[in-house]
Amino acid sequence: MAGSKFAYVRNFELPDPLLPETFMVLRIDGHAFHRLSEEHNFVKPNDERALQLMDHAARDVMNEFKDIILAFGESDEYSFLFRRSASLYNRREAKILTTITSLFTSSYVFNWSKYLSDTPLKYCPSFDGRIVLYPTATVVRDYLSWRQADTHINNLYNTVFWALVLKGGQTTTEAHATLRGTVSSQKHEMLYSRFGINYNELPARFRKGSVLVREEVSDTTETRSGPETDKSTASDPGEPVPTSGKKAQKKKPRVRTTVELYHCDIIGDEFWDCRQNLLADS
Ligand code: GTP
Ligand code: MG
Repeated sequence: MAGSKFAYVRNFELPDPLLPETFMVLRIDGHAFHRLSEEHNFVKPNDERALQLMDHAARDVMNEFKDIILAFGESDEYSFLFRRSASLYNRREAKILTTITSLFTSSYVFNWSKYLSDTPLKYCPSFDGRIVLYPTATVVRDYLSWRQADTHINNLYNTVFWALVLKGGQTTTEAHATLRGTVSSQKHEMLYSRFGINYNELPARFRKGSVLVREEVSDTTETRSGPETDKSTASDPGEPVPTSGKKAQKKKPRVRTTVELYHCDIIGDEFWDCRQNLLADS
C-alpha cells in the first residue's frame, strides 16, 4: 500500500545501532532519590526493604531479557551487563534503553507495596538510563570493580556519618566536618571506638552491593536441540522427546539457567574463576 504524502518524515528517524561484538552495560539510576528516600522515610544509611525492591525489579528485567548475564546494584542504581554477542532489537540503542528502563521502573512501582507495605508511594518514581560499550572483558571487570568500590566508599562514609548524627548527636554539618580529610582506617576506628560497630560485621548487602548472575543449572535430562532455556520458560520435563523415526532430532544436554543473587566480592578473581564462561562469549 502506498504511503501517504506525509510518510517522508520517517526519513528523519535516524538509525542508532550499537557497535557489534562489544559488551553493553546499561546502567539505570533513580531520579532524585535523595528526595524520594526522605519523603518515604527510608532507613538511614541503608534501607534493606528498598534495596530488596531494587533487586526484585532487576530480577524482573533479567527474567525478561535473557541476553543479560549479570547485574550489579547498589543504592538507587543497577548496572546490567549483556553478553557480547547480544543481538536484541538489532542492537538499537533507544529501543533497548527505553524498554529496559521502563520495565525496571514499572516493576519498582508494581512491587513497592510488597517491600514497603506500611509506606504508601506518594508520587511516581523515575529512573534515568544510559548504555556504555566496553571492548574487552578486562574493561568490563574494571567497570564492575569501579561500581563495587564505590559501594564500599559510600557505605563506609554513610555508616559513620549517620552514626555521628543519629547516635553521636552531631548535626549533619558537624558530621561532615568530623569526617573531612579522614581516611578509611580512621573511619573504621571511629565506628568501633565511638559506637562499638565493627564495619566488617555489617550485612554484606550493604558492604558489597547486589550481584545477580545467570547461572547454568546442570541437568542430566536430555532434550531436543534448541536455544538456551530459562527455568521459567523450560519445556515440561515430562514431555516425551522423540527418540527415533523421522521426527527424531539430535539430542544435546538441556541447559537451564537461573538467576542467583549474591552479595559477594567481584573485584578479586575468585568470583570470575568460578564462572569462566561468563565473559568468554563467542
Ligand atoms: P540524581 O541521581 O542525580 O537524580 O540524584 P539522587 O538524589 O538520586 O542522588 P544519587 O543518585 O547521587 O544518590 C542516591 C541517593 O538516594 C542517596 O544519596 C540517598 O540520599 C538515597 N538513597 C539510596 N538508597 C538509600 C537507602 O537505602 N536509604 C536512604 N536513607 N537513602 C537512600
Ligand atoms: Mg539517583
